[in-house]
Amino acid sequence: METADTEALARQTRITLARNAATTATARRGLAVSGAAGMGKSTAALLIGKRHEKAERRRLGRADDRSFAPVVYAVVPPATTPKILIQAFANWLGLPVPQRATAQAVTEHVVGVLRTLGSSLVILDEAHNLTTNRLAGAEAASTLKQFADRLDATFLYAGIDLPATDLFAGEMGRQIKARMIVHQMRPYVIGTKAEREAWADLVLGVEDLLPLAAHAPESLAEHAPYLWDRTGGSIGALRAILADAAIGAIIDGTEKIDRRRLEATATDYASEEHHLEHSRQEQPPRRRGLKRAQ
Ligand SMILES: Nc1ncnc2c1ncn2[C@@H]1O[C@H](COP(=O)(O)OP(=O)(O)O)[C@@H](O)[C@H]1O
Ligand SMILES: [Mg+2]
Repeated sequence: METADTEALARQTRITLARNAATTATARRGLAVSGAAGMGKSTAALLIGKRHEKAERRRLGRADDRSFAPVVYAVVPPATTPKILIQAFANWLGLPVPQRATAQAVTEHVVGVLRTLGSSLVILDEAHNLTTNRLAGAEAASTLKQFADRLDATFLYAGIDLPATDLFAGEMGRQIKARMIVHQMRPYVIGTKAEREAWADLVLGVEDLLPLAAHAPESLAEHAPYLWDRTGGSIGALRAILADAAIGAIIDGTEKIDRRRLEATATDYASEEHHLEHSRQEQPPRRRGLKRAQ
């Protein structure tokens, strides 16, 4: 679904891509999408990748060209140094990496192939797993910088609380963060009328995806505040609870979701913690009134 986050990030990506295409090799900018787990970072990054891929294929008339790969999407495994990352790229591209090959040589090789493939957007997901290994911080930084600078591509990093990770710390951070625009993905909040409406829209958007025979459309609108309490405003937790509720309703044949069904459906532990915390805070009657207002 298109959300405020996907829209903002898509807009920023278009600007960054255009700017990188227009400027010289040394000043290339990157993008980062950061936030807690389940906020929709990967989903947004994949959506942006998909759109860029389609747009590039159309623009260059290479719709079915298999030797063209405008977008590269890679998930960074735990404790990955930039050097290991480059090696992983080499493996993925099917390039033989001799034992004695220097990081620089492997990088050159990988960059060469990605150039041939016409890659212009590189998405590194789970980028919080990138580490400098402390000792080799400067070397790690230059490896990543070399990779990003030599490749004529825009980098989009997605990961959990990126500003607190190695990517933004030490030598690597110094070189990276000066050129990076960070988009923070936060949970939905329901403080103002506009915020409550945005959350309710999201609930109805997810409801619309549920294949339930006896469910009255938009009937979840009245439960939007309750669903916020249960999920802490996380889009991932919302989709999960509604998917599980829908599966339950299909299994027992009722084919609809009501309040009782929602109460009987479990959420992940982070949401449960939020719910406990929140229902404790919600005791004063004044706050309860505010909560119910649409
Ligand atoms: N824009 C969106 N539209 C629909 N569902 C979404 C959207 N963003 C996230 N989700 C749902 O939330 C879940 C978690 O999203 P994900 O992108 O994996 O989060 P993150 O990468 O931040 O941990 C996904 O499985 C998906 O079902
Ligand atoms: Mg993710």
